[in-house]
Amino acid sequence: MLRKIYFILPPFGRRIIRRVYYFPTDCYNRIFKKSESLVPPKGMSYVGSGNFKILGDKFFNHIHDTTQISENSTILDIGCGIGRIARPFAYYLTRSGKYIGFDIIDYGIKWCNRNYNKYPNFHFEHYPLKNDLYNLSTDKSASEFVFPYNNNEFDLVVLISVFTHMQQKEVINYLNQIYKVLKPGAYCYATFFLTEPNDTQSLFPYKYDNYSLHNLKVKNANVAYDKTFILKTSEEIGFKFYLSFKGWWKTEHKSNNIDFQDILILQKP
Ligand SMILES: C[S@@+](CC[C@H](N)C(=O)[O-])C[C@H]1O[C@@H](n2cnc3c(N)ncnc32)[C@H](O)[C@@H]1O
Repeated sequence: MLRKIYFILPPFGRRIIRRVYYFPTDCYNRIFKKSESLVPPKGMSYVGSGNFKILGDKFFNHIHDTTQISENSTILDIGCGIGRIARPFAYYLTRSGKYIGFDIIDYGIKWCNRNYNKYPNFHFEHYPLKNDLYNLSTDKSASEFVFPYNNNEFDLVVLISVFTHMQQKEVINYLNQIYKVLKPGAYCYATFFLTEPNDTQSLFPYKYDNYSLHNLKVKNANVAYDKTFILKTSEEIGFKFYLSFKGWWKTEHKSNNIDFQDILILQKP
């Protein structure tokens, strides 16, 4: 019920509620200097529940263990939010490495640009695109967005909990754009909600060809995709399937899964 109310609120409303709710904690942390410089105040972090540092570190460790990145790699973090994935990369990459994050919401990008000023090889960019969960201030569609990067520029593209908030045409466009900007041999590490034919799950009751929605009023609230559709689309673009890890979203209890969402790693041959 609370989840439904939360999704129905406009993005600005959700932002105010978070700021007010966490105001006492954020004041306490500020006064007693409890916060780390690359961790935003709780009221500003809109990237999901859970511990900002623990989840960021967990994803970084898994990315590091599964893809062949090094301290000198060039990383693109799509939908970088407010730096949850950037933070562990800031402690890992040397000055020969480079990190670019982009997002459709400006305040996370502004916060990161202010707080990463000691990291000249970290860049955060804002591209306003429409998303009915996150950004209603424009009609520009992610399905037509051309990434402003060079072909074969990146050693790794990361999308944590981003395809789970995007519509089918947008996902297809992003996969094409990612393919273009990855170096040959490089990886795309992305989380999804991936459905399979005999799944029983209650999170996505509204089914369409290739995808299912969690909420009809806010379509981007959460989107699940048929696993075969995503794999077939990726292969048509040119990607090779590399690895996948099941999330625990279907079972509602954690076992040995890495995350709540499924993880898919694709490689550009
Ligand atoms: C759940 S948050 C995750 C943020 C970040 N990846 C993390 O793990 O902390 C989803 C993010 O995706 C961004 N987003 C949604 N649609 C996008 C798009 N078309 N392009 C880039 N970012 C997008 C949102 O603005 C939001 O910051």
